[in-house]
Amino acid sequence: MAKDKTLFTCTECGGTSPRWLGKCPSCGAWNTLIESVAEAGPGKNRYSGTQFAGLAQAQAVMPLAAIEATDIARTPSGIDELDRVLGGGIVEGGVVLIGGDPGIGKSTLLLQALDALQRAGLPTLYVTGEESGAQVALRSRRLGLDHSQVNVLAEIQLEKILATIESMQPAVAVIDSIQTVYSDQLTSAPGSVAQVRECAAHLTRCAKASGVAIVLVGHVTKEGALAGPRVLEHMVDTVLYFEGDTHSQFRLVRAIKNRFGAVNEIGVFAMTEKGLKGVSNPSAIFLSQHSEPVPGSCVMVTLEGTRPLLVEIQALVDSGGPSPRRLSVGLDKDRLAMLLAVLHRHAGVACMDQDVFVNAVGGVRISEPAADLAVMLAITSSLRGKALPQGFIAFGEVGLAGEVRPAPRGQERLREAAKLGFSIAVVPKANAPKKPIEGLTIHAVERVEEAMNVVRAMG
Ligand code: TYD
Ligand code: MG
Repeated sequence: MAKDKTLFTCTECGGTSPRWLGKCPSCGAWNTLIESVAEAGPGKNRYSGTQFAGLAQAQAVMPLAAIEATDIARTPSGIDELDRVLGGGIVEGGVVLIGGDPGIGKSTLLLQALDALQRAGLPTLYVTGEESGAQVALRSRRLGLDHSQVNVLAEIQLEKILATIESMQPAVAVIDSIQTVYSDQLTSAPGSVAQVRECAAHLTRCAKASGVAIVLVGHVTKEGALAGPRVLEHMVDTVLYFEGDTHSQFRLVRAIKNRFGAVNEIGVFAMTEKGLKGVSNPSAIFLSQHSEPVPGSCVMVTLEGTRPLLVEIQALVDSGGPSPRRLSVGLDKDRLAMLLAVLHRHAGVACMDQDVFVNAVGGVRISEPAADLAVMLAITSSLRGKALPQGFIAFGEVGLAGEVRPAPRGQERLREAAKLGFSIAVVPKANAPKKPIEGLTIHAVERVEEAMNVVRAMG
């Protein structure tokens, strides 16, 4: 392939420049120029070399009704929990990005999925850039996948990978990982934003043109700091993130974008000696089993996709120095500051001179505001050194005015809690069921101070 001229494209406006500049000459934005490849020859337009290149080709205009709406064909991966997050299975020509911390289990899960697909008679390709073929083989033995027919290619050069995919035409190809792949057309180092973007764009085009489903593996740190995978999110059809504490056994796979299914659906796995195993009934795995209730702990029911999960929220309030610390793991940090202000203003609970730490047990990340009430009750419980009663749960969003707002699908959450043997619930008034739920005493509250009084009355 002839070496095309490199070009710098603005991520904001799509404007181009022949050399790198700090400021985009077209729109004036700073630090937005990224190296890309200028496609030579006829048909060159301002979108070439950008992710919109495919859109810029001339197409006949048609009314929507005249376009055939083909149903998406999905192939189940053979791993139920993975299919659940994918929205039913792998889609022909679909591109999936799987992100997550190193060592969390991305390679393991994908190797298991490819083996299941291969056993179902679908040709698969596993492109490894991080490990040698021998290392992948070692892993497959460990997983008990003897005599696996998954095709393995140890390669990091994009053009060779594309050629293999095009000649082999597998049903699914996994690229592990996108950060190791590089294209000859660019001068920047493998793993740089320009390389990652360009390689992903080529692979996406290849998937769409050939119908091969492509799964890209990307590393992200806990803070999402590594720029690589984040810039790919808008290019691909589905984005899955692995969550969970690498020290604990459980792993969550969450869909944060899915053009072929629901987002925020989660798949739950346990890492075992023989790879990842799906957990089909995960509602109780994020509870740390205290033999006696302890101060600073409050269980909440969160709804992840279609399934309710019970998660223990822990808080530790301890006297701090001149500038007390606020730290949260698995919960929004800014929200914690807001909740502390509401707690002070509306319930008279002051933590101004205290360090406050909160944690969602088991490495799960809770993004919904329904955690607010449980966070506040855990903080108050820690501050007072008084445990909440045995079998206690709470959920509900808290507003700046001190009001407690309902959480979506409250009845479902309450029923799940009752099923797991919880007996006392403090919930928003609008979530209180009309008919009583067996075994569950429900206290419906409208305001934060009311919730605090209910708990205090329990002793
Ligand atoms: P891996 O899939 O290599 O992570 P990633 O590709 O996301 O970086 O996972 C490796 C971790 O999983 C490693 O710490 C060992 C552990 N593991 C098991 O506990 N059981 C197994 O059967 C396998 C294959 C790995
Ligand atoms: Mg890996």
